[in-house]
This record gives sequence, structure tokens and C-alpha cells, in this order.
Amino acid sequence: MNTRDQQTALERAARERIKDSHALDSDAGRLSHFYRGWASSYELDVGRDGYCGPMIVAELAGAVQTAYLARQRSAIAILDAGCGTGLVGVELERLGFRLIDGIDLSEEMAEQARQTGVYRQVQGDVDLNGSLSGYSSASYDITVCCGVLTLGHVRPAGLRELARVTRPNGFVIASTRKSYAETTSFEDEVRRLQDAGVLVPAQRLADGRYTAEEDAHYWVFQVPEKASAPTEERP
Ligand SMILES: C[S@@+](CC[C@H](N)C(=O)[O-])C[C@H]1O[C@@H](n2cnc3c(N)ncnc32)[C@H](O)[C@@H]1O
Repeated sequence: MNTRDQQTALERAARERIKDSHALDSDAGRLSHFYRGWASSYELDVGRDGYCGPMIVAELAGAVQTAYLARQRSAIAILDAGCGTGLVGVELERLGFRLIDGIDLSEEMAEQARQTGVYRQVQGDVDLNGSLSGYSSASYDITVCCGVLTLGHVRPAGLRELARVTRPNGFVIASTRKSYAETTSFEDEVRRLQDAGVLVPAQRLADGRYTAEEDAHYWVFQVPEKASAPTEERP
């Protein structure tokens, strides 16, 4: 097999693994098992598939901080929900963010994220399909979630907890690959949460680049101010 054929075979294998990851029915046991086996080669595979979600999500966080948050980037607390091996954290750090926490279902993926050295702390064994009981409300200025509200992973209802741990006037930034948005009730869930005063869609990059195979929508939600919350500081 020549080098080009080898490259094509590796790209095909990477796409197969990514496709397999979408067939896990949001089952915590199956997801944990799958990512335990994938943690060491995940970045090579998604790199082969042209995955650029982490860069776009981090750059949206940077734009939101510049546009709306008075404090310096280094003082903005960010939760990277479903941090995986830390691709988003690395991009956030490159952009000047310093207070980055990560959570993930897979302890093996979380350990890879710890090894990047860009996170303040990383917690494994956290299921975003359940309640984030270890996390207080309004803890973070920005919560990012990239590649996790995706087929077979975290259901749209997971968005509610992401909003809860984000402070009033803070932001939740998430990617949804197009097939996820089309096959789940994601937009219905967004409307429900908006009607309930949980979040407000603030911006959306529709049909943005995501992988070689598929585009994604990138969402910026703002958590509305509660009556009792302090008012947002503006420069
Ligand atoms: C496609 S990877 C994305 C990782 C990282 N955000 C990135 O963009 O590279 C999906 C990640 O979501 C995690 N995950 C899947 N289901 C989860 C769940 N129910 N709760 C928390 N994390 C989950 C996996 O362990 C994996 O690390």
C-alpha cells in the first residue's frame, strides 16, 4: 500500500470510529466504554477528519468576552463541558483565558485534558445527561460545549444544566452538528428553555465548518438576569 492509500485508509478508519461514536444511544456505560478505548487516538482521528469545532467555539468565547464582559479574559471563569482530551481548553488558553475547568463522562478523556496543563481542574465521571449536582448554580461566566450535544451523546435536555451553572448574563456556547439539530428536538428544547426564562438565543453561526464530512451550527445563548442577581458590568 503506498503512502496515499495508507492516508486514505486512516481517514476512512477515523470516520468509521466517529460514526460508531454516534450510535451509543446516550447510554453512559456504552459512552464511557467507547471513549476509554478511544482516548489515546482521539485527537489523531478527529484531526484526520478536519475537526475545527474547538477553534470556532473558543473564538466565539473570545468574541463574547470582548463584546460583553468587562473583566479581562484571564479573570473569566469558563466551564468546558465534555472537555474530552482538552482541544477546546488549549484553544481558550491560546486566546488568553486562564480559569478553565473541564468535566467529562470519561475519566480517560479527562486525564488527557489534565495532561494539557491548561485547565484549573478537570473532573471525570460527570454525566451531562443528568444533573450536575456537584456544581453550584451561577458558577461560570461562560460554559462551552463542543462536540458533545451530538448524536448518541448528550440529549438536548442537557442544555438546562449548562445554563444553570452559568451565571446570569453569562453565556453558553455550543456546537450542534447539523444532523443532530435535524434529528433531535434541539430547537424545540431551546424554545422551551427560552419560554421558561432559562436562556435566550443570542447569536448563531449557521452551517459553519465542523468536520470534513459535516457542517454544524454554533450557538451562543445568554442566561437571563434574575431579579436577585447583580447587574452585568460593562466597560
Ligand atoms: C466528540 S468528543 C468532544 C470532546 C471535546 N469537547 C472536543 O471538542 O474535542 C465528546 C466528548 O463528550 C464526552 N461525553 C459523551 N457523553 C457524555 C455525557 N453524557 N456526559 C459528559 N460527557 C460526555 C465524551 O467522553 C467525549 O470526551
